[in-house]
Amino acid sequence: MNKTVPFFDYPRLFSDDKKLLLEVFEDVGKRGAFIMQKDLLQFETNLARYTNSNFAVGVGNATDGLELSWLAVGLKPGDEVIISSHTMLATASAIITAGGTPVPVDIGSDNLIDPDAVLAAVTERTVGISPTQLNGRTCNMEKIMSIANKKGLQVVEDAAQALGSTFKGKHAGTFGRAGSISFFPAKVLGGLGDGGAVITQDENLFHKIYQLHDHGRDTDGEVKSWGRNSRLDNLQAAFLDRKLQDYSKVIARRRAIAQIYEKNLRGIEQLNLPPGPSTGDHFDVYQNYELTAENRDELREHLKKNGIGTLIQWGGKGVHQWEVLGFKTELPKVEEFFERCLMLPMNMFISDDDVLYVCETIANFYAK
Ligand SMILES: Cc1ncc(COP(=O)(O)O)c(C=O)c1O
Repeated sequence: MNKTVPFFDYPRLFSDDKKLLLEVFEDVGKRGAFIMQKDLLQFETNLARYTNSNFAVGVGNATDGLELSWLAVGLKPGDEVIISSHTMLATASAIITAGGTPVPVDIGSDNLIDPDAVLAAVTERTVGISPTQLNGRTCNMEKIMSIANKKGLQVVEDAAQALGSTFKGKHAGTFGRAGSISFFPAKVLGGLGDGGAVITQDENLFHKIYQLHDHGRDTDGEVKSWGRNSRLDNLQAAFLDRKLQDYSKVIARRRAIAQIYEKNLRGIEQLNLPPGPSTGDHFDVYQNYELTAENRDELREHLKKNGIGTLIQWGGKGVHQWEVLGFKTELPKVEEFFERCLMLPMNMFISDDDVLYVCETIANFYAK
């Protein structure tokens, strides 16, 4: 084995952009502009503009963004919020820490939350839905919003993985009351540490979230309520703002990688691929390239032996399978999915040759 394709090469986040990042660091450092300075404001403004949102608030991370959104929406103890079981535990934990109860449901054929399962899970205690815009793909939000509107439910989108993804031209995170985006280093827009932002169209909600994230202070600096500290560092915001300028190139590259996978793997009958980069209703940004595969564990081992890194998302379990957290339901589609799912390398550091090598190695495995 002489070629390696790591799943994600963290040091390259710094080394590939070193010149730019050091310039930003020096500029921010010289000004001593570390907390809530103009770089953060500028990033929030640019992020809101990019997503066609009225408001954006930088927060400590996307999990906090979800929690603050639910608190601002007014979640009360006993309130139920329906989520997909195929999501990070953060979607659920944010509801718990905001005082509510997450109710995981099954996935549909697209591996996103199943709108029929959502409808079936609505009880008199249900107050909301928190759809996850997973792997850089926005759910069919027409269906989700129509259920929410009919049943009078609040929607807070987990858009942690989906900045730039759209459904029918509308950005992930802008369908419901609020959407939370993550800038975790491996995200499509990744910082050099933790970071997140909430986007919303609703001015009242914006002020509530703003107060919650900065010790109860509103945009005028006056204390209006109890709050806490969950701010996006000014330095991270300055990095992210520079990276946002080239974001369309990043998305185009990820879609080009997805196209190579699509072209070379689509014919392998033992695989079930995610949708290719179409230009239909869904515009996907490919945070991850997650497929399902026959003999997944053997395939993974074969790829490892050939120097290729892969990942099984969320430690290989749906939310409802974490019995230690008190879940007891059974959701057959998610459970089957986690027996077979695998994520292939998908990031800015891999070349076309790397992707072709991954495809060839997979084809060889099934040709045996
Ligand atoms: C779907 C989803 N939700 C929430 C989060 C939490 O984001 P953060 O790490 O910024 O809190 C992540 C991050 O991995 C995620 O993928």
